[in-house]
Amino acid sequence: MARPKIERPDFGGPFPEHIAVIMDGNGRWARGQGLRRVLGHSEGVHSVREITTECARMGVKSLTLYAFSVENFKRPKAEVGFLMRLLSKFLVDERPTLMNNGVRLRAIGRLEELPKNALAALRETERLTERNDGMLLRLALAYGARAELADGLRRFARDLAAGRVREQDIDDETLRGYLYDPHTPDPDLLIRTAGELRVSNFLLWQISYSEIYVAKECWPQFRRPQLLAALEDYARRVRKFGGLVNDAPAPKPDTTRSGMRAR
Ligand code: FPP
Repeated sequence: MARPKIERPDFGGPFPEHIAVIMDGNGRWARGQGLRRVLGHSEGVHSVREITTECARMGVKSLTLYAFSVENFKRPKAEVGFLMRLLSKFLVDERPTLMNNGVRLRAIGRLEELPKNALAALRETERLTERNDGMLLRLALAYGARAELADGLRRFARDLAAGRVREQDIDDETLRGYLYDPHTPDPDLLIRTAGELRVSNFLLWQISYSEIYVAKECWPQFRRPQLLAALEDYARRVRKFGGLVNDAPAPKPDTTRSGMRAR
């Protein structure tokens, strides 16, 4: 089946290759509708489907969704169980949509902490989609950035002790190699929904220079128009990565006596 043509919106500025999303506000959305909190998660699945499909069709290279944090295991057992069943169902039901849009699915996190059936569904969906050459959809599951750094440090300590890495070789790139998925470039744009101004232990290393966009809408309300608003905002950003905007030579310092006095 032919894949839909890439149609990238043009807002006259940069377009993000990697978007990461903190999907927040499911519970608040449900409460606002007079529904049980967990029904916000069910509704959130529709946003996951729409945003994944839209991003794939716009030519985004990677989309990382924060679907379940290590800290989320502290929620009531019934909510954790509900989320895990929803995840297992999503991983099976979405296979045709992922295939039709050429999306490759991969997960990051302490995946061994997921229930057996969710992990099995995940591994099977990863396997079925691994040859797709369109967008990479990364689900952060049982994920925490501090846990990722701790897990990486443990592997690093083992490599150091075994002489596979030497102290003098350590730099940013060596450390990156110990993250869960080191070959996916850092997010250009980090979106958080429901108006909260926090990064909540998400991709702490990788978002060092990401542009942040906070949407007021709760995740179940975050659809194509809200995504376009985020992309339009991103197109106006000037990314400097700690440097300067352009390579224009700096004005010569005024070293004349009067110039020195004026400073
Ligand atoms: C935060 O909302 C959201 C989560 C903890 C889970 C995100 C899950 C989904 C969007 C649905 C399932 C996803 C997949 C991929 C199957 P919250 O409950 O913390 O909202 P609140 O802050 O309003 O309480």
